[in-house]
Amino acid sequence: MDMLTTTSPLKPRDVFIRPYKDSDHTQCREIFTEGMQQLANPIMTLVYPRYVKIASIILVLISAASFRWSPWIVGLYLILCVVMTALLYIDIYIELMKFISGCLNSDLLDISETYKDGSKVFVAEVQGQVVGMVGLLQGPHLKPGVGELQRMSVSRTMRRKGIAKLLCKELVIFAKQQNINKIVLSTTGVQTAAIKLYKKIGFQLSDTFPYPQKILEELPYECYELEL
Ligand SMILES: CC(C)(COP(=O)(O)OP(=O)(O)OC[C@H]1O[C@@H](n2cnc3c(N)ncnc32)[C@H](O)[C@@H]1OP(=O)(O)O)[C@@H](O)C(=O)NCCC(=O)NCCS
Repeated sequence: MDMLTTTSPLKPRDVFIRPYKDSDHTQCREIFTEGMQQLANPIMTLVYPRYVKIASIILVLISAASFRWSPWIVGLYLILCVVMTALLYIDIYIELMKFISGCLNSDLLDISETYKDGSKVFVAEVQGQVVGMVGLLQGPHLKPGVGELQRMSVSRTMRRKGIAKLLCKELVIFAKQQNINKIVLSTTGVQTAAIKLYKKIGFQLSDTFPYPQKILEELPYECYELEL
């Protein structure tokens, strides 16, 4: 059976969870990028209603005024709305790409170098192919005994097969070996699959605030923690 294409759940023995090695570099960066890029549509769905509301109010005002002016103004305005929608989507995509390239050029640039001395990336391998990853980072930005779960991602075609759960299990075992007593993570409100996964594992919401960028302020930024 080709486990990379099957839609049936995988058995734990079909998935090999192991520490990252340098030959996984390209696949890990691709899996992370794919996982983040797909957030553009859900973010758009979340922020769009506010712009539609503002545009509708302006349209009503313009329609009222166009009894005296001419209806082509309304037509022109609708074209403008389409252009603004496209610009909004592009803006969201650019913000996402900035985030992705920030990660690819920081901790994911030299993964072995970043995740060492008590930090580690685990990958999930199925039939010799890397299909998922997760990292645990310790560092000066965190209190002693606290580790941060980062870069959780599973290839799109391999989701809902229990791979992320296995990665988390391995991460928790490693964290305990490192005497970590709390794992923290941050995510956004549109990453619903990830939030369900984290809650299932036992993470609890510790803080939430609007995303720092004005254009994305409807997007909740959420922090979770798991006591070990
Ligand atoms: C989040 C993600 C890593 C989950 O990977 P996965 O291998 O599909 O997850 P699993 O199959 O191990 O699922 C574990 C649990 O998570 C929850 N879950 C995962 N995907 C879900 C979905 N699409 N809808 C609802 N619940 C979901 C379920 O509770 C599931 O348990 P169950 O199957 O027993 O119901 C994957 O969807 C992904 O890579 N998303 C894009 C990247 C991302 O958002 N990363 C998080 C960064 S903070």
